[in-house]
Amino acid sequence: MLCEKFSGDLVQSACDCLVLGIDEAWNESDDIAAVDRATNGLLRRLIETEEISTKPLKLTQIIAPTGLPVKLLVVVGLGSRELAHPSVFSRASAAALKAVAVKKRDVVRVAGFNGTPLALRGAVAGSLVGCIGQDLFRKEKALHQPDRIEWVGIDEATVASGSILGDAINFSRRLVNLPPNYLYPESLADEALKMGIQCEIEVEVWDREKLEIERCGALLGVARGSVRDPRLVILRYSNGPKGTAPTVLVGKGVTFDSGGYSIKPTDGMLTMKCDMAGAATVLGIMQAAAQLQVKQNLVAIIGLVENMISGDAFKLGDVLTARSGKTIEIHNTDAEGRLVLADCLNVALDQNPGRIVDFATLTGACVVGLGVEISGLMSNNDAWQSEIKQMADACGEYTWPLPMHPFFAEQIAGKVADIKNVGEGRYGGAITAAKFLEEFVGNVPWTHIDIAGPAFLDSPKPWCDGGGTGTLVRTFTELLANAKS
Ligand code: BES
Ligand code: MN
Ligand code: ZN
Repeated sequence: MLCEKFSGDLVQSACDCLVLGIDEAWNESDDIAAVDRATNGLLRRLIETEEISTKPLKLTQIIAPTGLPVKLLVVVGLGSRELAHPSVFSRASAAALKAVAVKKRDVVRVAGFNGTPLALRGAVAGSLVGCIGQDLFRKEKALHQPDRIEWVGIDEATVASGSILGDAINFSRRLVNLPPNYLYPESLADEALKMGIQCEIEVEVWDREKLEIERCGALLGVARGSVRDPRLVILRYSNGPKGTAPTVLVGKGVTFDSGGYSIKPTDGMLTMKCDMAGAATVLGIMQAAAQLQVKQNLVAIIGLVENMISGDAFKLGDVLTARSGKTIEIHNTDAEGRLVLADCLNVALDQNPGRIVDFATLTGACVVGLGVEISGLMSNNDAWQSEIKQMADACGEYTWPLPMHPFFAEQIAGKVADIKNVGEGRYGGAITAAKFLEEFVGNVPWTHIDIAGPAFLDSPKPWCDGGGTGTLVRTFTELLANAKS
C-alpha cells in the first residue's frame, strides 16, 4: 500500500521529504519539539518570526534543513485545534502532498497530525487525493504520486481505512475526469463491472433491450438522441443482518449533457462530462464500503445515458411514460437528469429499500443558490437528511438543506401528461427538480443531494487539482461504516 504507519525515529531516519502539520498549540507537540531540536532551534525561530504560519493550509517549504536527513521540509498550517473547520485536516494534508508531488519522490513522511480517528482518516485520504491530478492524457504529468507516504503517530487501522477512502475518492475523480469520448454508458458500466469483480460486489447490467422490457421510458427518452446505447447498472453488497432493508444509493450518470434540443451554449457544455459525477460518487462509495467490509446491506443503481441531438432525439412537447407509469411532458430537454433518475428511483423501490439517497449534478439553480462548494440536500424525511448533514459536517464536506414545501410541486403539474419536467420559470429550480424526483420515491425515506457545484472544479485548488472532486464519497462511507468519531 502507498500509505503506511511509520514507527521509527522521526528525525533520525532519512526520507525524501518530511511534511509537518502545525497548529496554534505547536508548543505542546512532541513532533515539533523533536524537529526543532534536530534543527538546532530553526523551527521555533521561523515560527516566532512568523516566517512559518500556523494558519490553515499555509505552506512553508524549507529546502535541505541542516540537522534533518531530508531533502525537503514542508510545514503546513492546521490553525486552531478547537476552532478550525473540519475540512482543514484533509485539505491541509492534500495541499501539502500536492505541493510535494510536483516531482517524483520515494518516501514522504507526514507528522504533526493529531486528532480523532475520523479526522485522521480524512488526512490520510486527503494525502492521496492531493498527489493525483486530472491530466490523464498528458505525457508530462504535473503531479507524481510518491512511492510511499509514511504516517507518524497514526495507527495502522486508521492509515489503512484512510487509504481505502482516498483510493475511492480518486476512483470517482478519475471516472469524472475521463473525457466523454472515452467514458460513455457502456464503458462506464464496464468500469462498474471491473470494480465489482475486484471488490466482490454483485453487478447487474441492463442494456437497451432490457431497459425496453422494463419500460424505462423516461431514461430511454433521454438516450434516444445518442448513438451510444444507455445502461442501467445495479450493484449489490450484502454484509448486513439478513433480512434488513437495504440502503439504496442512486446516481445520475449522464456521461455527456449537450442539453439536447434545449442545447447548452459552448461555455456551459464544455464541462458536461462531469454530469455522471453522481454515478461516480455512488461507485466510489460502493468500492470503499466493500473494501472496509461495512456491516450493511447496500444496493446501488446508476442510470447511464448520453444526452445528445439527432433526428430521433426526444423533443419539446414529447410525452414520455416512466417505468412507474407516470406520464411526463417534456418542456426542456436539458432537464434530463430527473428523467433518468425517475426510472432509477423506481427500480430502487423494487429493492424494498429502508432508505434511499440519490446523488446528481442536477441543477445550475443549486449552484446559483448555494455556490460551488455546497451540495443541496432535499428530502422527504428529516431524520435521514440530518443524519447525512451531521456526517458531512463532521467530515468537513459542505451540504445545506433546502425547503421542500408542497406548493413547489404545483409547478410541475402537466397540461397533457401527469407532470412536466421543469417548474414555472427558473426560480427555485433546485427544489422543483427535487419535487419531480419525489414523485418517484413513494413513502420511502429519501434524500436527494444536488452536487452540481462541488462535484467538479473548473480550476485547481491548493488541495485538489481541477476536475472531479469525489465529493461526499468520504462522508457516505463514514456514515455507512457507522463512524462515531
Ligand atoms: N447537468 C445539468 C446541471 C448542471 C449545471 C450540472 C451546471 C453541473 C453544472 C442539468 O442537466 C441541467 O442542465 N439542468 C438545467 C435544468 C433546467 C433546464 C430546468 C439547468 O440547471 O439549467
Ligand atoms: Mn441538462
Ligand atoms: Zn445534466
